[in-house]
Amino acid sequence: MNQDLKYYFSLARSKEPQHQNILRDLKYFLKSLEVSDAIITLEDEYDLSAEEALKLDTFFSSYLVGKPLDYIMNESEFMGHKFYVDSRVLIPRPETELIVEWVLGLSLNKNSTIFEVGTGSGCIAISISLKKNELKILAGDLSESALEVARINRKLHNTYNVTYVQSNWLACSLESSLDLVISNPPYLKPNDPHISDLDHEPLMALTTENGSQSFFQIASQAIYSLKFGGRIIFEHGYSQAEEVSNILKDFGYKNITTCKDFQGLDRYTFANK
Ligand SMILES: C[S@@+](CC[C@H](N)C(=O)[O-])C[C@H]1O[C@@H](n2cnc3c(N)ncnc32)[C@H](O)[C@@H]1O
Repeated sequence: MNQDLKYYFSLARSKEPQHQNILRDLKYFLKSLEVSDAIITLEDEYDLSAEEALKLDTFFSSYLVGKPLDYIMNESEFMGHKFYVDSRVLIPRPETELIVEWVLGLSLNKNSTIFEVGTGSGCIAISISLKKNELKILAGDLSESALEVARINRKLHNTYNVTYVQSNWLACSLESSLDLVISNPPYLKPNDPHISDLDHEPLMALTTENGSQSFFQIASQAIYSLKFGGRIIFEHGYSQAEEVSNILKDFGYKNITTCKDFQGLDRYTFANK
């Protein structure tokens, strides 16, 4: 353990060839320790307490084995809000905000019931609730440990119109009971080459049989659970729009539409029952 902050700045610089954002991320981390902006910017001398030095040692040991910064800091930003995250849940991705924007743009009436399946950290359901607290929002996950994280975030944001349920997708929902089904399900194939870059995130949040099994299962359950005219929206991989649209078509959904993300890639598809 070293108690001089300058040592950690030099350590970060020495690791920059393999970890190009390490100095930037270290500075971000230091802000969370409430080290002053002036010291961080100037990389000035600063005597660390034993506790701060221990936290910095943990930062480096985690960072250098590839642990994402959000997990190290137990914090992720989504729709401008802070969410608690740890390795039990997927780190929210910026493109997922588009689903929330789409939902907020719908004219749903007060008594509408929406169900977000595969809620993970709860970021989608909670962000909707923060803008539309009159809606009845169900949020489910098969993983009880993911739901524990989602409950932490519900408490953090006081969004008690979100009701959590442990369920295999929509297995718990009744016939014609829902106005809207939302999901950003796992959509990578188990042998996808990107998996090795994501080895700190829960596999269950990432992969599904053939890359499309979750869409199939959710679409098949939702056609039963949605009210007539009710809507479904999926986030999917940029090359999966046609496959997802075909699944929806085969189950009889109408008005199937795909939209692009910030990078101009096909990212989400919605439809009506
Ligand atoms: C891609 S993550 C999405 C998390 C969060 N909604 C987000 O957008 O950041 C998919 C989630 O689906 C959950 N999941 C996987 N299989 C499931 C199943 N059969 N039923 C319900 N949830 C499931 C995972 O545990 C994970 O939390």
